[in-house]
This record gives sequence, C-alpha cells and structure tokens, in this order.
Amino acid sequence: MNRKTFYITTPIYYPSDKLHIGHSYTTVAADAMARYKRLKGFDVMFLTGTDEHGQKIQRKAEEKGVTPKQYVDDIVKGIKELWKIMKITNDKFIRTTDKYHEETVQKIFKKLYDQGDIYKSQYEGWYCTPCESFWTETQLVDGKCPDCGREVELTREESYFFRLSKYQDRLIKHIEEHPEFIQPVSRRNEMLNNFLRPGLEDICVSRTTFNWGIPVSFDEKHVVYVWIDALSNYITALGYMSDDDSDYRKYWPADVHLVGKEIVRFHTIIWPAMLMALGEPLPKQVFGHGWLLLEGGKMSKSKGNVVDPVVLVNKYGVDAIRYYLLREVPFGSDGIFSNEALINRINSDLANDLGNLVSRTVAMIDKYFGGVIPEDRQADAIDEDLKSIVIETPHKVEKLMDEFQFSLALSEIWKAISRTNKYIDETMPWVLAKDEANRTRLAEVMYNLAESIRIVSILIQPFMPETPEKIWNQLGLTAGSEATEWESTKSWGGYPAGSRVSKGQPIFPRIDVKKELEELEKMTGVGDTAGVSRGNGGSRHGDPEIPKDKKADSGAQSAEEYVTIEDFGKLDLRVARVLDAEKVEGADKLLKLKLEIGNQTRQVVSGIAEYYAPQDLIGKYVVMIANLKPVKIRGIESQGMILAASHDKDLALVTVDKGIVSGSKVR
Ligand code: ME8
Ligand code: MG
Repeated sequence: MNRKTFYITTPIYYPSDKLHIGHSYTTVAADAMARYKRLKGFDVMFLTGTDEHGQKIQRKAEEKGVTPKQYVDDIVKGIKELWKIMKITNDKFIRTTDKYHEETVQKIFKKLYDQGDIYKSQYEGWYCTPCESFWTETQLVDGKCPDCGREVELTREESYFFRLSKYQDRLIKHIEEHPEFIQPVSRRNEMLNNFLRPGLEDICVSRTTFNWGIPVSFDEKHVVYVWIDALSNYITALGYMSDDDSDYRKYWPADVHLVGKEIVRFHTIIWPAMLMALGEPLPKQVFGHGWLLLEGGKMSKSKGNVVDPVVLVNKYGVDAIRYYLLREVPFGSDGIFSNEALINRINSDLANDLGNLVSRTVAMIDKYFGGVIPEDRQADAIDEDLKSIVIETPHKVEKLMDEFQFSLALSEIWKAISRTNKYIDETMPWVLAKDEANRTRLAEVMYNLAESIRIVSILIQPFMPETPEKIWNQLGLTAGSEATEWESTKSWGGYPAGSRVSKGQPIFPRIDVKKELEELEKMTGVGDTAGVSRGNGGSRHGDPEIPKDKKADSGAQSAEEYVTIEDFGKLDLRVARVLDAEKVEGADKLLKLKLEIGNQTRQVVSGIAEYYAPQDLIGKYVVMIANLKPVKIRGIESQGMILAASHDKDLALVTVDKGIVSGSKVR
C-alpha cells in the first residue's frame, strides 16, 4: 500500500561556531510537525542541513589558518550534535559541500544557462575592499560600507545573472491563485505588494572575487553565488538530476518549507522562479515564522547575549525547552525569550498542571487499589463534561497542527489537562475513599483520570520526545501498544483494564525561580541586553538580489471625521509588560492585571477573561492608555486600560511586533 508522503524542510544553516536557542526554533518546529505527520501515518521526509559556501566562511578559515572545508567540518559536527540533543528526527542531513549536491548544482546552472535563463553581464555595485563585499546603493549606510563603515568604490564585476524578471507575472499569478502557498497571509501580502508588483530585477548568481563555492562548470573563474547553491538543496537532497532520483519522484513537491521570516522572500520569489525555469512543480507551501528575540533585540552571538541551547537542555531537559519554544509564542509572530518566562512555564504548565496530575493520579490508584483499577466501576453524569472535553481535544489539535498553530494546539492539550485537574477537585476522591460503599465510584473516578492522562500523553508526542514514555511507564502502558496509538485518543476507554501503575520520579521537578534566575544570568549573560540588530537578519551576503526599498502603496484616508495630532497626543499610550494576571472573584469576564511600564507597575482590571487564560498573559507586551483616570471596578482600582481588537465574539489584545522595553511610548 502506498502511504501518503509528507516532505518538510528547514533552511540549511550557516555554519556558526555558536548556535543560540533561536537557531533551534525552525528545527524544533519542523521536528514537531514531522513527528505529528508520522503519528498520523504519513511517509515523512524531513530534511535539514548546512549552507557552507561563501566569502565569509573563506575569510574565517583563513583567519584560523585552516582550509574552509576543515573549518566547516568542525562546526557541522557541532550542529549535528545539537540536533541530536534537541531530539530532532530529520531523515536526511544535506551539506552543500556534499559531492552529489555540488554536481547537481553545476547541472542546474548549466541547464539554465543553455536555455537562456542565465546570461553573462556586468554586476555593478559598491565595493568595500577590506570586506571584499559588494553592496547596492540602498544597502549603504551614509554612503559607507554597512559592515565596517569604511569608504566604498563603484565597481563592475563580470557576473552571471538569472532572468528573474521573466517570471514575475507567472509568480504573481501563482501566488494569487494559491492562497496557501505563502503563510501566514501577512507575509503573502508583503511579498506581493513590496516585491512582486513593483517589479523584479534579474539577480546576480555568480562571483569571481572569492572561490569558496561551487565552480561554474563551463567558466571556472566563477563560483555559483548563494541562492542557486543554497535553495537547490531541497531537490538535490532527493537525488534530482542524479542516477537515482526515486526520492525526488516520491517526495517532490515539498509539502512545506519552514523558514524564518527574513528569508521568505528568497523562498517565495527566487526559488519558485528557479523551479519554473527548470520546469519542475513548486513547493505547496512556504511558512515564514517569526523571530525569537531577547528583550532589547534579536539574538545574536555578536551581541554577546547568546542563550546556549545545550546549557538549557542540560538544565531542564529537552522536553521543557521544546515545549517552551512552541508554546510561548504563536507560530508566525515574533516572541521574546526570557529565562523567567521559561521557568514560569516549566513550573506552572509542566511541573504543576501535568506533572502533579500524573503523580497524584498514580499515587491515588496505588493507595486506594494497590495499583490496579478494579473493573467494577460506577459512572456518574458529572463525568460527562470531562470526557467530552478530553475527547474533543485530538480533533482540535489536528486542525491546529495542520495550520502550524503549535502554540494553540498545546494550549488545547493544556485545557484538557486543566479540566482533568478540576475533575479531581469536583470528585474529591479522598472523600470517596473514606467509605467502602463508594468503591465502585472511586474506581470510575480513577479510571477517568488515568484515561485522560493516557490521551494527553499521546497528544504531546510531537512536541515532547521523552515525557510520553515516562508517563506510560507510570500508567503501566507499553509504547507501541494499541493504547498508545494516535487514533486511540479519539474514543474514550482505551486505558486497558488490569493495567498496573507504578510510582516514579516526578516527570518535571519544580524549579526555585529566584535561585535559578541568578544562576542562569551568570551563565548565559542574558542580563546584559543589547540594542536591536541591523534589520533583515543581517545576512552575510547583504542580499543584493532584490531591491529592498520598494514599499507598498498606502491606502487613501477615507475617514470623514478627523482628529488632530494634538487630540491624539493627549493619550499617553505605552507598551506594558504583563507581570501577573488573575481572575476577579465573582466576575466571569474580568481579569486583574499587574503591568510593568518602565520602572513603574500598574494595576488594571480588564474584561478579557473569556478570551485569555491568566497564565497565558504573563510576559506579554500589551499596549495601554497610561493616563486614563483611575476608576474602581468591583471595588478594585483600575489604573488605565489595555487595548484590544474585537469583532463579534472574538477579541485579540494589541501587542507589539517585536521586542521593545516596557514603558516605550506608542505614537
Ligand atoms: O538563513 N529566532 O541560515 P541561518 C528564530 N543559510 N529563528 C531564528 C533565529 C531567531 N533568533 N535566528 C535564526 C540562512 N533563526 C540560510 C538559509 S535556505 C536555502 C538558506 C532561523 O543559519 C532563521 O530564521 O541564518 C532560519 O530559518 C534558520 O534559523 C537558519 O538561519
Ligand atoms: Mg540568517
């Protein structure tokens, strides 16, 4: 029988001698998706790798006195180790220095040249001699080199060009006809309005100023420059144009290329145009995720604010880190990484909600029934709500996973966990246990708890590679048995009668926040935050291919009534960080928030309780009116108001698009 295939890729990584936790983001997300699809029965191909050519690598190797290959070999070993530590289950790992890749890239280049899609011309640009880098006019900073700030010279270099402009109309048509092609939608509009509709220029695809690259087979003083080399990896890895292209025929087109937002442009414009030129089908989707930032700016080693993923995994375990990465930030948006938020998540979601649920349940089954739930059990109407919520969860999770909404999928699973915890409070097993007459009822309560945990433990598998089996060991379930299959989460009652539970270690020990934060800041230097780094990811290539400065037309003002800028200026709008949130007793709609604006704190009562769980708000950056006259709501003073968008029964808080300190003025 032919199973459905699923081909997913991460970008190939630049060899960097120190990877930070942000680097793990794309790979962990792709891994969760790959694991999920395997659980759903797909024949998955999951590809990652390294992007090893270019001038920067060549120069670094020279500085170290080694060959570029020796230099990258060492780093690639480290990257592969990191993926092992993060429990990444890639099926292939491609290096652009692999011989088969180099050969195919040469064939692709030659084919495009022979058919006229690549032609020789002059590359004109501003050259920085010390950096040996070309820059376009718009990339210069005050007319100087954006990397080193020195003088640049207008120079010409013989180069090969790819006829990108020829594919503009077909690309626009494709993107318009396939709304799913670029996700999230905001990135699709950005590509259409900022780059495609204003017009594409042909791009330079070879260089003669350095030689650490794949030689152009028919003109050896040129090496293939960046994107034809790097992007082709997605098909060369499958044996495209080689003697054995069976994987290519089986898995291409890719179901999804997962990429950071700064390289969406290359994946949705240059790459599809290359494929069109080759006469090959386009990937079904390119999903551009956001950045993981530190307070104050993008993570980067050069800023000295690296968060070392290996340190974090060694301290808290891979499951906690993966959970945090995928839970904390809606996939697609930027998010802030903070040690505090990480530890809070571990303590509240993992140690408290999930960990305690498992250990309490196992301890009770052990205590009341010697480890095995009796088969004589008595159901009650009050069980129905728990069952229906838990049994709905796999369907919700599947829908959200298919939309790459990792964070929401996890939040659904945690709703089931919370509901199960609430079930313990409702049924009060310790009271039932006092009277032998309640034995069958107590057995049913224990069964429902074990069954909920069983379902949850299966659903967390894509995200957490280690925890499910720990839970199964405690519940007396066997990995690979029917009771641990994905589909078994969709009907109630799969926990096998007669299973014997056994107490174990807490699956997530609680962390002493204060002590831990002090220790972490010493180790990782997260305390010293730095300024925002140069935009667009600061690519080593300076991305000269597509002019960056073509802006979208702004829509004309259609409002009939205007306010003056002075009117608007009366509002003191500020970015505020949510320090704490709790329900207001006796008011279903209200939350009491503690907000930080700069070095002040404020208390605000907000009618958002139906839309946000208190714990989900902590750490969020919201926008507040700071000079609103204080009022008392239900006897609680509210010192300002936070902004939210609402429509019908939906509500979304207004947040900021990237890391900026609390207290920043919004204008
Ligand atoms: O771009 N937050 O490689 P790369 C989230 N070689 N994601 C981050 C991140 C952060 N702080 N820092 C890095 C390249 N990433 C090219 C790709 S593909 C044909 C060529 C992500 O090593 C980044 O967005 O700079 C990208 O998805 C991945 O790490 C590799 O980035
Ligand atoms: Mg990058």
